[in-house]
Amino acid sequence: MSSFQTVRGMRDFMPEEAKMMRYIEGKARRIAELYGYKEIITPVVESYELLSAKAGEEVRLRMYAFKDLGGRMVALRPEFTPSVARLVATTLRNEPRPFRLFCVGSLYRYDEPQMGRYREFWQSNFELMGSNKPEADAEIIMLTNDFLRSVGLKNYVFKVGHVGVLRGIFAQENVEEKNVNEVMQLMDKKAYAEAVRRVKEIGVSKKCVENVQRLIELKGKDTLEIVGKMRECVGEYDKALEAVENLQEILKLIAEGESKITITVDAGFARGLEYYTGAIFEVNIPELDIALAGGGRYDRLIELFGGEPTPAVGIAHGLDRIMLAMQKQGTKMDAAEAKKVVVIPAKEELKADALKIANKLRGAGITVEVEVMGRKMGKALEDADRRKMDYAIIVGERELKDGAVVLRDMANRVQNSVKIEELVERVKG
Ligand code: HAM
Repeated sequence: MSSFQTVRGMRDFMPEEAKMMRYIEGKARRIAELYGYKEIITPVVESYELLSAKAGEEVRLRMYAFKDLGGRMVALRPEFTPSVARLVATTLRNEPRPFRLFCVGSLYRYDEPQMGRYREFWQSNFELMGSNKPEADAEIIMLTNDFLRSVGLKNYVFKVGHVGVLRGIFAQENVEEKNVNEVMQLMDKKAYAEAVRRVKEIGVSKKCVENVQRLIELKGKDTLEIVGKMRECVGEYDKALEAVENLQEILKLIAEGESKITITVDAGFARGLEYYTGAIFEVNIPELDIALAGGGRYDRLIELFGGEPTPAVGIAHGLDRIMLAMQKQGTKMDAAEAKKVVVIPAKEELKADALKIANKLRGAGITVEVEVMGRKMGKALEDADRRKMDYAIIVGERELKDGAVVLRDMANRVQNSVKIEELVERVKG
């Protein structure tokens, strides 16, 4: 017996899981259609420089990076956003805004494998590029809500913050970007005490340290109350105040929309990726302690890649984790299962007739398998039972002379002779 196994952190999707993954993907695709997002397919391998530009320490260090045989430094994509930004900076450069772009596929990060954390994982990714308006941010949150509801998940909560608040304060305190990024990375890892210690070391005003400390503790479900308190903290920092106002507008648009969305505002919320400039979001569910989705506004990435200045906002949904959450919550997939049929020739010489009948049924959109193991009728029917086929069609010489076959209903074990021209109707009916 071979001892080959999957590489650590990689996994196989067996038919049931593959089916569920494609089902979730299908729901994401439907949301893309409903909101007018066009799908693009980008390469798994991209230049290391592109992927690492604003990925942030955490993702950068976990990339599958290598030199290809031509000596180019490349990496397997750890996310979709840089690829989409690359396209908008190049091929789509002169096309009219906004762009609504959708991607789905596998991504690669050398993360420590654990529940819901894999080295190969799947995302559905939505990017809305060209608008700096709060309605664009609201759209990204609303479509995510629609998506998670459409797969049947319950009790998920959006966590919303705004990197412009802390970045605004630090900018006014003339803190170097490198140091700001370091503090944000610590906050992303929830190492708040260490983050505050770093802020003190950097040498900002005493008031700044106090405000940062207060902001970190500010979070709650009463979104307007929290935003009000954030406003008090940032009083004199103009850029930070603008950020709080922007956050308030986004929340107001969502609250006034039709859908009920549960949101926690978290002023100390940061994300590992470094390109964010505005509102940031994450989705959590009580059954799991890892995020189902994450995203935010990044207004400067496209110009960093040499494109026209293009404000943008987007989100990626972790499909593996959504699947895990569905399993934890016992969420069922929509039924609408098609009938399954197996065609069994009663003897060798009727093989060709079995194939012909199978094809006729497939032509009518029915799922048909043909007995290919050459088994005796009893064994073949046993197998059909085991695999939960709805019907077995037995092709026998006697019936065939009258243009008929035997149709066996596997569930109640009743069988009748049925004319071949009536077969499709009988199976579908
Ligand atoms: P991210 O937060 O790095 O954001 O990833 C988004 C989601 O991908 C996570 O919330 C999680 O569900 C899933 N995910 C990430 N790493 C893993 C892993 N190792 N195993 C399983 N699932 C994982 C981004 O990727 C940004 N590009 C999102 C974005 C789009 N921002 C703007 N536009």
